Amino acid sequence: MYKYLYIYNYEPREQALCEMEFKRIFHTDMTSKYFLTNQYFDYCRSVYIRGRLDIIASSCDINEVIQTIEEQHLYYLDFKVIYLKNEITHVHYQTAMEYCKKLAFPIDGSVNMQKPQTVFALTKLQEQWYFGIYHDESVWNLRSHKPHSYSHSLNIRDARTAVNIAIGNDLSLKVVDPCCGVGTVVLEALSMGIDIEGYDINRYVSYQARLNLEYFGYDPLKIQKKDMLKIEKTYDVAIMDIPYGVYSPFTYQQQQELLQKSYFLAHQLVLISHIDMNKELERIGYEIIDQASIMKGNFKRYVTFCRKVI
Ligand SMILES: C[S@@+](CC[C@H](N)C(=O)[O-])C[C@H]1O[C@@H](n2cnc3c(N)ncnc32)[C@H](O)[C@@H]1O
Repeated sequence: MYKYLYIYNYEPREQALCEMEFKRIFHTDMTSKYFLTNQYFDYCRSVYIRGRLDIIASSCDINEVIQTIEEQHLYYLDFKVIYLKNEITHVHYQTAMEYCKKLAFPIDGSVNMQKPQTVFALTKLQEQWYFGIYHDESVWNLRSHKPHSYSHSLNIRDARTAVNIAIGNDLSLKVVDPCCGVGTVVLEALSMGIDIEGYDINRYVSYQARLNLEYFGYDPLKIQKKDMLKIEKTYDVAIMDIPYGVYSPFTYQQQQELLQKSYFLAHQLVLISHIDMNKELERIGYEIIDQASIMKGNFKRYVTFCRKVI
């Protein structure tokens, strides 16, 4: 029996990026918005996961599921049982409600429909029923409004995903954002407990990034005003949203210098760029592991995960 069902939800523009993150986390291709696995993942890290069902019982026979719950003698204060609709298998509303009642009945404790402490959920995917404890708190969007932002800042969803692609399942990696702007990526990484530092050459922008970190209770000194070409430390992975000269001129040659420097900063790089820079990355000595593109209005960005060729 699988232990977990992860339920995904994403906008069409995000599908490729979601699939890229999924592959980094679960090491397999995404084939559906409903993913059954034995792998635990802190689903709050991903902006695309709507919820996780921690499966207690599953069977193609609903009576077997009910019997398993009866045998477990569960007891919970303030719980409720819901039916989780899905896009794969339709269950008639009355039938779903009837089964939910039958599943709630053997659970001791107290029911609280308004403010439950525990939510049990039942769902059916193809011929199989799944029942378990459902988690769906999305804490990450608490930072969707930061005090300082600018129009070409990454949005929080894309920034958070870039962090997940960078670290995969290894939360102990040391991460750097060498062109951190107002600190969107740094904030998301810090919120996941990741050791990250950010640099920006621009005095005012780096100051704003510090204010953003301070506002959310993080150490503002994780951000330094510095030219990334002068960074002496090394890291496990870099996330670079490369400047492309929207407000101030930035030449192709300058971009090459930053890419070249990133090679010495870390073994792995998540590059966010407005053009496909694969040839440049390969010339420097990177191997492209995966890539996706994202749209922000009419503005296309590439997210490329690459690693040094050993
Ligand atoms: C595309 S913006 C990054 C936006 C950022 N991801 C955000 O969400 O706010 C690129 C940033 O690189 C910075 N930058 C340009 N050259 C740099 C350099 N040599 N070292 C460090 N930062 C640099 C710019 O000041 C700009 O803030």
